[in-house]
Amino acid sequence: MKSTISIQNLTKYYGRIHAVENLSLDIPDKSVFGLLGPNGSGKTTTLGMILDVVIPSSGNYLWFGSPNKKANRQRIGSILETPCFYPYLSAANNLKIIADIKQCSYNNIDKTLALVGLYERKSDKFKTFSLGMKQRLAIASALLCDPDVLVLDEPTNGLDPQGIAEIRNIIKQIAQHGKTVLLASHLLDEVQKVCTHFGVLHHGKLIYNGKVNEVSGEEYWVEVASDNLLELEDKLKKYPHQHSVRSENEKLAVLLTEKSNIKDLSAYLYEHKIIPTHLFARRKNLEQQFLDILNQSENEYASQN
Ligand SMILES: Nc1ncnc2c1ncn2[C@@H]1O[C@H](COP(=O)(O)OP(=O)(O)O)[C@@H](O)[C@H]1O
Ligand SMILES: [Mg+2]
Repeated sequence: MKSTISIQNLTKYYGRIHAVENLSLDIPDKSVFGLLGPNGSGKTTTLGMILDVVIPSSGNYLWFGSPNKKANRQRIGSILETPCFYPYLSAANNLKIIADIKQCSYNNIDKTLALVGLYERKSDKFKTFSLGMKQRLAIASALLCDPDVLVLDEPTNGLDPQGIAEIRNIIKQIAQHGKTVLLASHLLDEVQKVCTHFGVLHHGKLIYNGKVNEVSGEEYWVEVASDNLLELEDKLKKYPHQHSVRSENEKLAVLLTEKSNIKDLSAYLYEHKIIPTHLFARRKNLEQQFLDILNQSENEYASQN
C-alpha cells in the first residue's frame, strides 16, 4: 500500500518538554487519518513539523515518496491556524486573493465554494458569516489549488452540533473525491465518524495505530430475546459463528465470532422460525477502548517518570 506521507522517528523538544518523541507513522493513500490525542499530546506540533512550520529536533518525513519539497507543497492543502480573511470582502473575493497568493487559477473557486456549501453566499461579506461558515471557507481556501491531501487541525473546534455535522460531511465528500485527509482531533467521536484509520498520541508518543472499523468491531456481543427463551438458547448455541451464549435477565447475550454479524444472526434465526422480540448489537465502543489505551499508557508513563 502506498503512503501519502511516511514519517520516521520524528522528534521535537521544547527545552525539557518532549512535545513529540520518536514518531514513526505511515499514512495510507486515500485514507482519512485521524491523529487522536488529549490536549497537549503533540498533535499540532506533529502537523507543524510535516508542514514545515516547526523545525524538528530530529527525524524525517517524506511526502508522496518524493524529496522535492517545492513540488510536494503544491499537492498539500492545510489549515493549521484559521487563515486571515478580509472581513469586508466577499467569500469569492477572499478566495481570489488566496488564489493569487498561491498562484493557482480562479477556476476552482465556484466549485470549491459549492463543495463547502457556500456557493449561494459567495457574494456576501466574510464578516456576516457564522463561525461554521468561516471554517468552511477556510476549508475551501485549503482546497483551492486542488491538492492531493488535506491537513486539518481540530476542524470542528468551537462549532455547534450542526456546524460539526456540516464539516464532517464535507470531509467525507473530499475523501470520496479521492483525496487523502489527515486531521488532528481530541474528539474520539469525530475520529470514529469520519476516519478510516487513526493513531493515538499520548505525551508525544504514538501508542496506537490501526483501522477504525477493526477497533470498533473487536468485541461483538448481541442481545437477543424471544417469546421462548429456552428454544432461543438452544438455537443460539447451535449457531456456528458464536463463541458463547449467556443468560441475562429476560434475554440472552451471544458473543459472535469475527465471521458473523447481526444480519447473519438475524437470517439464521429467521431460517429457524424464531422471531426475536429484541435484537441489539452491543459493542465495546471505541471510547471505552480509547480510555483503556490511554489508561494503560498513563500507567506506563508514570512508572517510567
Ligand atoms: N512553541 C512552543 N513552545 C514550548 N512548548 C510548546 C510549544 N508548542 C507546543 N508546546 C508544548 O508541546 C506539547 C504538545 O503541544 P501540542 O502539539 O500543541 O499538543 P496538542 O496539539 O495535541 O494539544 C505541550 O506540552 C505544549 O505545551
Ligand atoms: Mg493542537
